[in-house]
Amino acid sequence: MRVAVVGATGAVGSTMLGVMRERGFPADEVVPFASERSVGRKIDHGDLDLEVRGLSEEAIAGFDIALFSAGGATSGEWAPRFAEAGAVVVDNSSRWRMSDDVPLVVAEVNPHALDDHRGIVANPNCSTMQMVVALKPILDQAGIERLVITTLQSVSGTGQRAVEELHDQAQALLAADDMPPPHVYPHQIAFNVLPQAGSFPEGSDSTDEELKLVNETRKILEAPDIGVSATCTRVPVYTSHSESVNVQTREPLSPAECRELLTAFPGVAVLDDPAQGVYPLAIDAAGRDEVLVGRIRRDPSHERCLNLWIVSDNLRKGAATNAVQLAELLHGRGLLRSGERRAA
Ligand code: A2P
Repeated sequence: MRVAVVGATGAVGSTMLGVMRERGFPADEVVPFASERSVGRKIDHGDLDLEVRGLSEEAIAGFDIALFSAGGATSGEWAPRFAEAGAVVVDNSSRWRMSDDVPLVVAEVNPHALDDHRGIVANPNCSTMQMVVALKPILDQAGIERLVITTLQSVSGTGQRAVEELHDQAQALLAADDMPPPHVYPHQIAFNVLPQAGSFPEGSDSTDEELKLVNETRKILEAPDIGVSATCTRVPVYTSHSESVNVQTREPLSPAECRELLTAFPGVAVLDDPAQGVYPLAIDAAGRDEVLVGRIRRDPSHERCLNLWIVSDNLRKGAATNAVQLAELLHGRGLLRSGERRAA
């Protein structure tokens, strides 16, 4: 199996390479792609040094799988070309997520949707990804009417340059140096909270990140009627998104039942003994693949509402780990194009 990783020098792409190594992904060859400025750079990949290549018609031939995390524009241009050349693309950008003929898949939630792929599979937005893993067992047991969400999103979700921006600002503040002006975010991110994650599409008072939570949640859960109200914030945390989620169920569900459902669900770890200081923390989620859920409690203002605190590593389950899981499922279930060709 030949695997391309497009955006391999970035925050998510490099995590994809690491997750493939950790999980023993059965690749015969892994080829990293990035922008022209990185061509020729060597990437450490276990026992191997991989050389970064640039995207061209010749270079993209002969792949079985292409994992993409190089932004929407690169996915828009190159994902169809990889698919045309015979690969199945797992795309981490938002470019193809809402297309009708592109499945939007979370490994533990709707793996059946992979069956319908036509060459491109979309990996959901990080905030949506971790939330739907925790919501799926609740939906199956009690139905969901409405969600009210506040996210606290880490800077690595924006990419490597944002990580550097937080670092440089924090260092300058602590050293009482001149503050470097913000480039990636509209305001200082160090020691601050920005009530804006993403950008405001023309005419919208919600950010694109908030709209993704609405639209992607409905598509993945195959529940177009769920009401979703979201506020996405950016916080000075390097890794892991935290989310306060108020869930209004259709049928009654107690916090104890909810805890039991979540404990039994794959990919979830319940950390919920708040009196002992046990609840999910961003720094504990970083480097782990599970979605951590805690602070599970009745909303005192509504008998069919529960409050949850959901935390996960945005680079891993929120992006790279799910992409690699989808690649494993595609391979394991004979859904790669080369598998089709062999069968034919
Ligand atoms: P490069 O490192 O050469 O800029 P992040 O999300 O951390 O910002 O990373 C984005 C990734 O997408 C990087 O690997 C980056 O490569 C890659 N990338 C950006 N623009 C292009 C492009 N036009 N073609 C291929 N890869 C790109």
